[in-house]
Amino acid sequence: MSDPASDPSSDTVDVLYRHALAAYDQNDLAAAVPLFEQVLAVSPAHVEARYKLGNACKEQGHWDAAMAHYREVLRLSPRHAEAMNNLGAVCQMRGSSGEAEDWYRQALRARPALTQPHVNLGRLLQSAGRHAEARDVYDAALAQGGDAGLFGHLRDAATTTPSDTASARAPEAYVRETFDAFAGDFDRHLQDDLGYRVPAQLVELLHRHSADCAGAAMDVLDLGCGTGLVGDALGSTARSLVGVDLSGRMLEAARRKGRYAALHQADITAWLAAAGTGTADCVIAADVFIYLGELEAIFREVQRCLRPGGGFAFSVESCEGDGYRLLSSGRYAQSPAYVERLGAHGGFGLLAREAVFIRQGVEGLLYLFQRR
Ligand SMILES: C[S@@+](CC[C@H](N)C(=O)[O-])C[C@H]1O[C@@H](n2cnc3c(N)ncnc32)[C@H](O)[C@@H]1O
Repeated sequence: MSDPASDPSSDTVDVLYRHALAAYDQNDLAAAVPLFEQVLAVSPAHVEARYKLGNACKEQGHWDAAMAHYREVLRLSPRHAEAMNNLGAVCQMRGSSGEAEDWYRQALRARPALTQPHVNLGRLLQSAGRHAEARDVYDAALAQGGDAGLFGHLRDAATTTPSDTASARAPEAYVRETFDAFAGDFDRHLQDDLGYRVPAQLVELLHRHSADCAGAAMDVLDLGCGTGLVGDALGSTARSLVGVDLSGRMLEAARRKGRYAALHQADITAWLAAAGTGTADCVIAADVFIYLGELEAIFREVQRCLRPGGGFAFSVESCEGDGYRLLSSGRYAQSPAYVERLGAHGGFGLLAREAVFIRQGVEGLLYLFQRR
């Protein structure tokens, strides 16, 4: 192939841009970024290349660069609602909630039917305890023809009291988009800002009970593996490690760490239902059941996939009663009575239950069950 950068014709720009976009769509940011930069070197006013480069910077946690690109997009194209929304998201990541709110509202004025600023603004308001305003945002989204499953779920979460009549799980598109947008900064933000240690805590729990479980050389299944923090915590303990997640960008971060034998982009319930019987020694789900209220199918399929004596280690945010609740945070919590009933009726023995802080200010429980 000839070097398109040496010929600054519009054809060349198109070819470069297509290459850049293909790399970006495959989550290969290391290849995409220099290609977008080449497009811009030839054609500095290329709005979409500038916007995508801003996204790539945002996904890598390069906030200053991302903001500079989005501001340039808005200079060139003042009604670019996606750039406004993403500028808001960067402000929010940096803790500037007021500015973030402003940008989300500007994005909605520019494109009232755009999904993401409704989601972002509603969640921002919810996290500030402004539940009625958040509900207004979701109602506006629904009135604009927004996705009923998505905005119904968020609206349920924005009720002021925990709801146990809500939907049984978060919509897939919502999970995917949330974590795709978050992947670049996930490890740093969770571990450094929020003191998140659940993967290491679950692995410690397994090691403490390894004599009761399947022993050191385990075939491990990591449900909702995200960026692969469970793989980091396991180190070389696992004989094989397979990860499943909905978010392509989270999976790409896990892939770069090189610890997983296989990574699958799928919903964990659907993936488990098609997985082989008696193929795993250990199933781990770190901070994932906050996106699934109901766990019946998960317990059933995990029991089937585990070999006898295998371990099932996971965390939950816990609640009162005998069931699960959708909290105003938009996350689910499961009660000990519910989890332990599913375990006892599902062919598991309870090996350990420990109270922990899941992340800053959020209490929860770690569980280790053993398949009978
Ligand atoms: C809070 S992160 C935790 C990631 C990882 N387990 C860790 O501890 O770092 C939750 C992850 O679960 C994934 N997830 C949520 N619901 C899912 C589902 N139904 N199927 C597959 N992945 C899911 C999200 O995409 C996200 O990567």
